[in-house]
Amino acid sequence: MGRGTDENEDPMSGHGEPAPLTAHPGNALSGVAEVPGDKSISHRALILGAMAVGETRITGLLEGQDVLDTAKAMEAFGAEVEHLGPGEWAVHGVGVGGFAEPLNLIDCGNSGTGVRLIMGAMATSPITVTFTGDASLRKRPMGRVTEPLSLFGTQAYGRAGGRLPMTLVGADDPVPVRYAVPVPSAQVKSAVLLAGLNAPGQTVVIEREATRDHTERMLAGFGAEITVEDHEQGRVITLTGQPELQPQAIAVPRDPSSAAFPVCAALIVPGSDVLVPGIGLNPTRAGLFTTLREMGADLTYENERTEGGEPVADLRARFSDAMKGIEVPPERAASMIDEYPILSVVAAFAEGRTMMAGVKELRVKESDRIDAMVQGLRACGVEVDEGEDWFAVTGRGPGSVPGGGVCETRLDHRIAMSFLICGMAAKSPVTVDDGGPIATSFPIFRDLMGQLGARVTEG
Ligand code: S3P
Repeated sequence: MGRGTDENEDPMSGHGEPAPLTAHPGNALSGVAEVPGDKSISHRALILGAMAVGETRITGLLEGQDVLDTAKAMEAFGAEVEHLGPGEWAVHGVGVGGFAEPLNLIDCGNSGTGVRLIMGAMATSPITVTFTGDASLRKRPMGRVTEPLSLFGTQAYGRAGGRLPMTLVGADDPVPVRYAVPVPSAQVKSAVLLAGLNAPGQTVVIEREATRDHTERMLAGFGAEITVEDHEQGRVITLTGQPELQPQAIAVPRDPSSAAFPVCAALIVPGSDVLVPGIGLNPTRAGLFTTLREMGADLTYENERTEGGEPVADLRARFSDAMKGIEVPPERAASMIDEYPILSVVAAFAEGRTMMAGVKELRVKESDRIDAMVQGLRACGVEVDEGEDWFAVTGRGPGSVPGGGVCETRLDHRIAMSFLICGMAAKSPVTVDDGGPIATSFPIFRDLMGQLGARVTEG
């Protein structure tokens, strides 16, 4: 056998037996949907907590598998991580530059954010670490992170195409870096900033398009010297290395990317009225809600406030029978990159065509999300076209999507949840071949949708 094996035949590839789920059309959805904590912020809270000196307290942490894998990794690097109660965690950090060399592989499971951020955090410490993950993560490109990390002096040895498993040898005499991020990626930006923490002098990251800025906000909260300036070439972020990070009390807001599912379900299931309280509405994350409102969704923000340095509101979504297809501005893509799968489902229930362009990054997520949505929507009787960096859905109007398809999850939580929401509003049930990956980001999805009145059954 040549180099590598077909991942589909790899017996170690998945997370256990596939667990098909079927969503049935029917009831209107109503009530209050308390979605879990923000995944991006949860990863960062654990990692920065581990790099501070002393005890960081976290409430509202997402206890999904992705984040639990990051917690385990922080323990492997020498931090003490304690589970105090539901969503409540304490991290006893070892300080910037204080990471110990893990005794074994770091397995980040399904999480691109976990592995890329942790690679950054260890890259400027003189330790050697081997990373791996599930079959989805082992297909994803790591070169986008190891390339800038090599500028600090970090070495990386991985599989062909920069794939995991991969060993990183941290720089023992790191130099600061100036790096213009070539793809719109908060993971790449964050990896460079986290590496910059243990380099002397100033590390500068320039991003042409603004991506989620939780790392910058949280670094400032932990007492790092960090500035962000808007220049002609983009956002210029300057971090002064080797600070002593001060432990924090972090209240994680609820995840807008998870809120997207009950919100969108309410918009397309006739008669629905759902309140989704306490959702983080950082402008670098809220693009979906702007888009839905432009389509004519009955979606309002109530009780707008600031919590833990992030804007937060209660979202109220009601069935919307007059949504229209639109062209989603490509420059909005970064602020809703994880929401295109569920948006494409909503688009199927709107009138007219919804064009989603400038979304090439969707091809390198947990799955190729353009292909996964195109195939699944077609299986549900919806017309979809695609190009390398775009896809377009021809809406059939409210109540007019046939459904009845069996859709492939492809180890991708958001694909599974999107098609289950589709099944709640279609004419016939929709099945996903594996609901297991939902546990990576939204372990209570099925219970919560059930409490609102949805019917999701096994098999
Ligand atoms: C994330 C950044 C995005 C996003 C992912 C979470 C983060 O990935 O898709 O779910 O927390 O930084 P990219 O950096 O690849 O755009």
